[in-house]
Amino acid sequence: MTDIDQRRRTLCMQLLGGLAGIALGGAARARPSVDESARVFRLDGADVTYAFGVNGEGQLQTLYWGSALAAGDTLPTPVPVPENSSNEMPVTITPLEFPGFGGGLTVEPALKVTFPDGVRDLVLRYVDHQVGNDRIVVRLKDVSRAVHVSVTYAMDAATGIVARSATVENRTAGWIQLDQLAAASLNLPYSDDYRLSYLTGRWAGEFALQTRPIVPGSIVIESRKGVTSHQANPWIAISRAGTQEEAGPVWFGALGWSGSWRIHVDMDALGGVRTTAGYNPFDFAYRLKPGESLASPVFHAGYSGDGFGGASRMFHRYQRERILPGAPSPRLRPVLYNSWEATLFAVDEAGQTALAEKAASIGVERFVMDDGWFGARNGDKAGLGDWVVNRKKFPNGLAPLIRRVNDLGMEFGLWVEPEMVNPDSDLYRAHPDWVINFKGRPRSEARNQLVLNLARRDVYEHLLKMLDKLLTDHNIAFLKWDHNRAWSEPGWPEAAPAEQQRLYVAYVENLYKLLAELRRRHPKLEIESCASGGGRVDLGIMALTDQVWTSDNTDPLDRLLIQDGFSRAYAPAIMMAWVTDAPNFVNKRVTSLEYRFLSAMQGGLGIGANLNHWKDDDFAKAKRLVAEYKTIRMTVQQGNLYRLVSPQGGSARSATLSVAQDAKQAVLFAFLHSGGLREARPRIQLRGLDPKKTYALRAISGGVSPRTPKRASGAYWMGHGLDVVLEGDFQAAAFVLDGA
Ligand code: GLA
Repeated sequence: MTDIDQRRRTLCMQLLGGLAGIALGGAARARPSVDESARVFRLDGADVTYAFGVNGEGQLQTLYWGSALAAGDTLPTPVPVPENSSNEMPVTITPLEFPGFGGGLTVEPALKVTFPDGVRDLVLRYVDHQVGNDRIVVRLKDVSRAVHVSVTYAMDAATGIVARSATVENRTAGWIQLDQLAAASLNLPYSDDYRLSYLTGRWAGEFALQTRPIVPGSIVIESRKGVTSHQANPWIAISRAGTQEEAGPVWFGALGWSGSWRIHVDMDALGGVRTTAGYNPFDFAYRLKPGESLASPVFHAGYSGDGFGGASRMFHRYQRERILPGAPSPRLRPVLYNSWEATLFAVDEAGQTALAEKAASIGVERFVMDDGWFGARNGDKAGLGDWVVNRKKFPNGLAPLIRRVNDLGMEFGLWVEPEMVNPDSDLYRAHPDWVINFKGRPRSEARNQLVLNLARRDVYEHLLKMLDKLLTDHNIAFLKWDHNRAWSEPGWPEAAPAEQQRLYVAYVENLYKLLAELRRRHPKLEIESCASGGGRVDLGIMALTDQVWTSDNTDPLDRLLIQDGFSRAYAPAIMMAWVTDAPNFVNKRVTSLEYRFLSAMQGGLGIGANLNHWKDDDFAKAKRLVAEYKTIRMTVQQGNLYRLVSPQGGSARSATLSVAQDAKQAVLFAFLHSGGLREARPRIQLRGLDPKKTYALRAISGGVSPRTPKRASGAYWMGHGLDVVLEGDFQAAAFVLDGA
C-alpha cells in the first residue's frame, strides 16, 4: 500500500470510525443483524430498514430499502432475476449491491478493472462478512483472481442514513488498473412513477433544482472539472409521483468527494432503477500494484417517508451531528464582515481598519479581509501563490490590523486560494513544473491562473509550510479557502504515464490531508469552503470546513431561489449569506436594506456592503437586525427547516420556518416578489411547533393582519395560521414565535 492509499484509507476510516464512535455514545443505536443461515443482512436505524443478502450465485443482492420493518419480519432470501430473454442476462437485471463489470453485466458497474493480460472481466462473489456496532462489512472476491473488495455499510442510528463505501485491494502478483470505482450501487423497488431531483448551476447561479421523471435509459450528473463544481452538485433525491414537500417517500444520497465525480441513475430494460455513485470514470485510471488498495468516496444515502422536507431535515441533522468538524455540536456561525464587494483588490491597512471599526459598531463578530493582501496582487493577473504580505499595502505587516480587529472584539479572518498560481508570480517563476499540465502542451489559463498539482509531495509540503507559518505568525481565526477555476490538461508529467491519472484521487486526498493537518496544528481555526461561490460544496469537504460560501450572487431575491435549492441537500448551519450593496453587482437590482437582511438572515449572516457609503439610518437598522439575528441564529442555523412556500417554479411568494430542536422558538421569514391589486394573500400555516405550547408572536420586521392574536397555541399557528401583510415589490417580513 502506498502512503497515498494509506492516507485515503485513514481518512475514510476516520470518517466511518467517527460514525461508529458517536453512534455508540448516543442513546439510539443502529442495529446491524445477520441471518447467518439465510445469509441475509439487515440494518435498522431510526425509521429505516436496509437489507441485502447473498443469492445462490454468491452475489450481493438488494432486498429492501425503505421505512422500518418490524423486528420479526423475515425478508425473503435473495434470488437472481431469471433470464428475461437472451438479451437481458440475469446479472444485468438482478439488483446487485456492488456489481463488477463482467459476466455479461451491461448496466452500470460499481467496479471495472483491467488486468495486465488484457482480461477485463470481474465477477465478484461473497467471501465473508464482519458485523460491528453500527456497520456491516462484506468482503467480495473475483471468481478466480485475487481482487478483493470490502463493501461497507455504516448506519447512523439517529437518522437511518447509511454511509456506503468500498475498498478494492489488489492481492494478485501483478498490477491491476481500476477503470471505474463507485462507492455503491443502490437499487429501488420496481415502480413506474419515480422522479429524480438534482441540483445544477453555474457561477453566480448555483443550486438550481431540477426534477425529471425516471424512464428507461440513463441520467448522468457529474463533474469532470477536478472539483465538485457549480454545474452539478453530487446530491440526488428520488421520489414518487405523489411525493410532496411534507409527505411521501424520498430516497436521497450525496457523495462526499470534492474532485471529479459521477452519479448515474438508470432504469434497466425491465424497469429496475439503480443509482451508482463514485469517482467519475471519465478519464479515470488508477493502477494498484500488488498489495495496494483504493477506497471509494463515501455515498451517504437516506430514506424519508415525510416528503422532501422530511428528507432535508434528516440530512441537515446528519450533517450537523455526524459530518461537520464540530459534530455533534457545531459552533454557531459568527456574524461576519467580508471586504470583497466593498474594496475588491484595493485593500490596505487604513481602509480595512476603517471598515473594521464600522463593522464592529453594528455587532459583527468576525472581520474577514478578502483577496488582495499578498504579493503583487492588485488585480487577478498577478500574485497568486505568493502568500507574503504586500508591504506597500501593509507596511507593518498584518499585525496592526489584526490587533485593531481583536481590540474591537472581533476575530480576524483571511482569504486564501492555496491551490492556485498566477504565471506572473514568484512561485511560478521558481517552480513552473508545479502546475497540473501535459509536457510540451499549452497550459490553459482561467482568471489568469493555473492549478498547482497538489498531488505532488513538494507542493503539498510547500502549502502546508506556508499556511502553517501564516497561521502561526498571526492571530487568524478563520480562512476563506477559495478555488477559482476548473482543471484543464490534467497531466502529471513527473509520474509514469500509467500512473498519471492517479491525479484525480491523489490531489483531493492531499487537499483533505492539508486541511486536516492545518486544523490539527491550529485547533481553533475555522475554514470556509469557497470555489467562486458554491463550486465546492459536498460532504467530503464539509467534514473539514465549518461553512461554505453559497454563491457570489448576493442579490437577495436570486438568493431566495439559490438558498431554497441549497437547503434541499445541505444544512443552513453552513450556508453563508451576505448583505451587500444595492444596486447589486450581479443584476443591478435595487432592494431595501431590510429585504437584504431578511434574505441573508436565513443562513449564517454576513455583511459584505461598503460601509463607507452607509448613512446613520443604515447603521441603526443594521445594528438592530444583527442584534435580532443573534437571538434567533441557533434556531435558524441548527433548527428544523420547513419550506412553507417555495420560490421554485416562479412563485412570487416564499416563506420558510425554522423551529428550534426543543420547539421553544420558531422563526418565520416571508417574501413577496411583487403583488397585484386585491390579490389573494395566502395564509401561512406553520409546522413543527408543539401544539400544546403557547407561542407569543413578535415581529422582527413587517406586520400581520390586525386581528392576529399576540399569543396562541402551537395548534393555532399550525392549524389557523397567520396573515402576513406584504404589499409592493421586494417585500420581506420576519417573525419570532417564543414558546412557553
Ligand atoms: C472568488 C470568491 C469571491 C472572492 C473572489 C476574490 O470569486 O467567490 O467571494 O473571494 O474570489 O478574488
